[in-house]
Amino acid sequence: MTSSTRPGATVTTRVLVTGVRGKTGVPLAELLAARPDVEVLGGSSTPSTVTADGVLPTAFSWDEPDAWPSALDGVDAVYVVRPDRVDAPGLIADLLAMTAPATRVVLLSERAAEDVPEGTDGWAVRAERAVRDSGRAWTILRPGWFMQVLTDPRFFLDEIAAGELRYSSGGASLAWIDARDIAAVAERALLGDNRDGEVLELTGPEALTLETTARLIAEAGGRPVTHVEIPIDEALTGTEGFERELTRVTFERVHAGTFAVVTETVERVTGRPARTLQGFLDDHRQVLSPGTGRPAARSPRS
Ligand SMILES: NC(=O)c1ccc[n+]([C@@H]2O[C@H](COP(=O)([O-])OP(=O)(O)OC[C@H]3O[C@@H](n4cnc5c(N)ncnc54)[C@H](OP(=O)(O)O)[C@@H]3O)[C@@H](O)[C@H]2O)c1
Repeated sequence: MTSSTRPGATVTTRVLVTGVRGKTGVPLAELLAARPDVEVLGGSSTPSTVTADGVLPTAFSWDEPDAWPSALDGVDAVYVVRPDRVDAPGLIADLLAMTAPATRVVLLSERAAEDVPEGTDGWAVRAERAVRDSGRAWTILRPGWFMQVLTDPRFFLDEIAAGELRYSSGGASLAWIDARDIAAVAERALLGDNRDGEVLELTGPEALTLETTARLIAEAGGRPVTHVEIPIDEALTGTEGFERELTRVTFERVHAGTFAVVTETVERVTGRPARTLQGFLDDHRQVLSPGTGRPAARSPRS
């Protein structure tokens, strides 16, 4: 496309970012909006809450397919945040069928998706297959656990504020990845940086035990935090149905060491090393410091 909704700019690429308010959507929209030749449509189920500079709030809900054609109008590339629900493979296939044939698609999937068959009928792979079989140019991102869960009150922030990182690791390490690095990879793939047909396994630069993770958080926040190993069943508290099964499989994969494997994909794609947990925590000292936690419901997945 060559039209523009930005005064003075010639837009050559229009990108729909689904989940624009999410952990990867926020930094991705920021990167794309900084480019004068890119128009960013920020997809959200509540578009009135999309306030990022240079981002066009766009109604997008997996529950409202009638609105998809409007969200996809004139779009050259779409960032698909996989919805973690049982019907995701069909929803993704239906969405992509509504895109123009030349549309480039980047799917946010998860690390080693082929290891997610148990109890979920190969759901993660089927979600990816919907993209592979779409007939569009595609790239699949497979990140490990995001560092951002450590500063998110829906995940671990409140427990950290109380001095504990309660996590079921089975003694395995995690190569935490900064969602900003996922966004940097997604940006390149969306803008056609020769990533078509690639499955990118994304991790941080080092695998850390939960004990080390807790120690680094404690040092950054200036207050004691210790790792408390809990059984998987306790980690599932507050989840039910498909989300519960998916979360169980995720923690079983943590125990098996799936998330301990380090890849160099971020550096290969972006040309700079993946961010360290230490660097992430330095950037988030304020939220980790005493007096900043707040009570909220906890869910280990989105
Ligand atoms: N968190 C991790 O450590 C991690 C690791 C690997 C893979 N992943 C995968 O990455 C994906 C996203 O996870 P996340 O943790 O990044 O989640 P997140 O930050 O909570 O983002 C989820 C997004 O989904 C959007 N959303 C909610 N309901 C929606 C609906 N009905 N229709 C359309 N969009 C809706 C939300 O935006 P609105 O409310 O504005 O619609 C939000 O932006 C999941 O598939 C997850 O399995 C996560």
